[in-house]
Amino acid sequence: MDDRALQAVNRAWWDERVAACLTGQFYDIDGFLAGRSTADPAGIAAEFAEANVYNAVEVLGRRTFDVVYTSIGSIIWLPDIARWACTVAALLAPGGRFYMAEFHPFSAVLGEEDLTVTDSYFDGGPILSDEPGSYAAAGAKTVNDRSVTWNHRLGTVNRALAQAGLSIEFLHEYPFTLRARWPFLERRADRTYHTPAGSPEVPLPYSVKAVKPAAGPR
Ligand SMILES: C[S@@+](CC[C@H](N)C(=O)[O-])C[C@H]1O[C@@H](n2cnc3c(N)ncnc32)[C@H](O)[C@@H]1O
Repeated sequence: MDDRALQAVNRAWWDERVAACLTGQFYDIDGFLAGRSTADPAGIAAEFAEANVYNAVEVLGRRTFDVVYTSIGSIIWLPDIARWACTVAALLAPGGRFYMAEFHPFSAVLGEEDLTVTDSYFDGGPILSDEPGSYAAAGAKTVNDRSVTWNHRLGTVNRALAQAGLSIEFLHEYPFTLRARWPFLERRADRTYHTPAGSPEVPLPYSVKAVKPAAGPR
């Protein structure tokens, strides 16, 4: 299957899981609509556009922005990370800042039961899976269970951003995360999950800031 066909497989997987995201506990949409947001009060007006991210430049009318953000759990769904980075760069105004937070690709090569390395970090090819249900709602009934993901490693992501013309300002790796990736992680009062005291720490999420150079003098 080519990239377009693989993305169609994922579209079917995600479309079926919208209901679970809307009604499940995980996203607490009703709470958000009632004002119980966990985000800091920001006062930023929002406009929502729905599209394949690769079409974002056209869908947003070729406008450019001071800040572009890619949120966690996003790029594993994308086959072509260089094309994603070019999309980010095209959406940024000169001098604009790009931020991303993402699950660390090293955490994806660890097993489901413990911190044993079970997969190759350097593979990079499509990963097919057949998984019913949704992380957003335990027990959700689904039939479109085939999906395909890519574990883009740190070097690949940062090279793509650099080749798209952005300068990396930071890359932070964190030994704690915001969801129970393994049942033995310990939840702290600030809602972060950590490996138990005495066990090895591994990178869980990471974040990047990159900037688009300001336009030079004419
Ligand atoms: C795991 S969710 C992450 C959502 C959010 N970042 C969060 O933290 O809850 C992945 C999202 O990526 C979207 N997605 C997958 N492939 C996409 C694509 N090619 N273009 C746009 N969105 C896509 C899915 O529809 C889904 O909403």
